[in-house]
Amino acid sequence: MSNEITGEVIEIRTYPDPVLKKVSEPVTVFDEGLEKLVKDLFASMHVHDGVGLAAPQIGILKKAAVVEYDGKSYVLINPRVIDQKGLQEGEEGCLSFPGIYAHVTRPEWVRIETQDLKGNTVTFEGEGYTARAFLHEMDHLSGKLFIDYLSTLKRNTIKKKAAKHTGGHF
Ligand code: NI
Repeated sequence: MSNEITGEVIEIRTYPDPVLKKVSEPVTVFDEGLEKLVKDLFASMHVHDGVGLAAPQIGILKKAAVVEYDGKSYVLINPRVIDQKGLQEGEEGCLSFPGIYAHVTRPEWVRIETQDLKGNTVTFEGEGYTARAFLHEMDHLSGKLFIDYLSTLKRNTIKKKAAKHTGGHF
């Protein structure tokens, strides 16, 4: 990443903002605009102590996301799962649902194929919470939210809670 481009903190879209349910477009241009987007994602994630953030969460419908966990940073551009193993149960939150957590079952381990800022293909492996973060962010790029994994009853409870947060800033 070049040093001249600095990331800006962008306001995170919260549920029920309709942008969160849209399918993002693949990234086809690997230029300074993409680098700026990735730096904005890191800056906006850091200010909320998040472990991941996807472009639609800052209103940009491009298949780009970042994950930072356990001292490692990952840039995901046009990511896809190429292998997965096992299952894990765990609590999951989302910066678009401030203060809301729910149990979500995910694969325990994944290998993903993605692109870097120059368009080179790279693969990352993640297990445990890193795998969970990869999959959660990749879901955002397809307009899928963590509440979509829950029962209708649980989902409706969360929707009511989230409605109270609308317009709030954390
Ligand atoms: Ni999220």
